Amino acid sequence: MKYIDIGNGKLHAPAIALGCMRIAKMPIGEVAALVDTALEAGINFFDHADIYGIGKSEEVFAEAVDMKPSIREKFIIQTKCGIRDGFYDFSKEHILASVDGSLKRLKTDYIDILLLHRPDTLMEPEEVAEAFDILYRSGKVKYFGVSNQHPMQIELLSKYLNQDILIDQLQFSIAHTGMIDFGLNVNMKNEPSINRDGSILEYCRLKGITIQAWSPFQYGFFDGVFLDNDKFPELNQKINEIAEEKGVANTAIAVAWILRHPAKIQTIVGTTNSKRLKDICQASEVELTRQEWYEIYKAAGNKLP
Ligand SMILES: NC(=O)c1ccc[n+]([C@@H]2O[C@H](COP(=O)([O-])OP(=O)(O)OC[C@H]3O[C@@H](n4cnc5c(N)ncnc54)[C@H](OP(=O)(O)O)[C@@H]3O)[C@@H](O)[C@H]2O)c1
Repeated sequence: MKYIDIGNGKLHAPAIALGCMRIAKMPIGEVAALVDTALEAGINFFDHADIYGIGKSEEVFAEAVDMKPSIREKFIIQTKCGIRDGFYDFSKEHILASVDGSLKRLKTDYIDILLLHRPDTLMEPEEVAEAFDILYRSGKVKYFGVSNQHPMQIELLSKYLNQDILIDQLQFSIAHTGMIDFGLNVNMKNEPSINRDGSILEYCRLKGITIQAWSPFQYGFFDGVFLDNDKFPELNQKINEIAEEKGVANTAIAVAWILRHPAKIQTIVGTTNSKRLKDICQASEVELTRQEWYEIYKAAGNKLP
């Protein structure tokens, strides 16, 4: 497994992490097998959120691994807070209550990384800072980050925080490339030239904030998987051709494409299938050439000016 430095080297972590959004309804034995497969492949980083399965994902995970201090040490556990039923909530009260809930469900006394899940426009940054101070000083949370935020939101928050923002978790896949499209179409009048995220990719690279790619196999907002999908014939043909050449699965090429970017993006995969996870991890052995990377980008329907 390839490893990357997270947030200016504060953490050393596998380039591929396992997202636990879809494990809530799995039998405990299957979750245990999935976690074992991940650990064997060098993945010790697990991404959770208080809302995944309305708390059930964290619970099932702790039960499957038989969480206790000696086992807890093996994992880097990231969880998120701030999404409630029908609204967003970055209040101090909610952040603190959410972390206490996650700690209880995960059967641990600390979270490695806490992310604010989706921007709350009613956020009072002073309140977030107070909550983070309490969590940090009590040892309940070691590191902090955000998700789905643009640079000015991170700047605003950072003005008040006493801790660094290490991570911004954002949707990114071969079929969801807004973060790079406009940088390839500067000063053009076409659709891909529209900057929808305030240059988050360049901002994170400047600041040493690690981007985590969520939903690396999906297109649209949970519209489905682009691999082996008839809607993407050219893309699948190109991916399969390169996969065959390199002797790896098509999933590995899809992830290798993300890992090839010099921003050193960490990919959060959401498979619940141990065999698929093993295949995906072959990405760690693949280094795409510049030409292959651009060929895949173009096969996804993108044009270079
Ligand atoms: N921050 C945010 O706002 C946010 C939003 C969404 C997700 N996330 C995080 O990102 C993680 C990954 O998200 P995701 O689960 O949507 O990602 P994903 O890895 O793109 O999708 C995984 C899902 O696609 C299915 N799938 C079907 N065919 C597949 C194929 N050929 N290759 C790969 N997968 C295939 C998988 O089924 P099998 O299980 O059968 O393999 C699984 O249900 C989540 O677990 C969560 O931790 C964060």
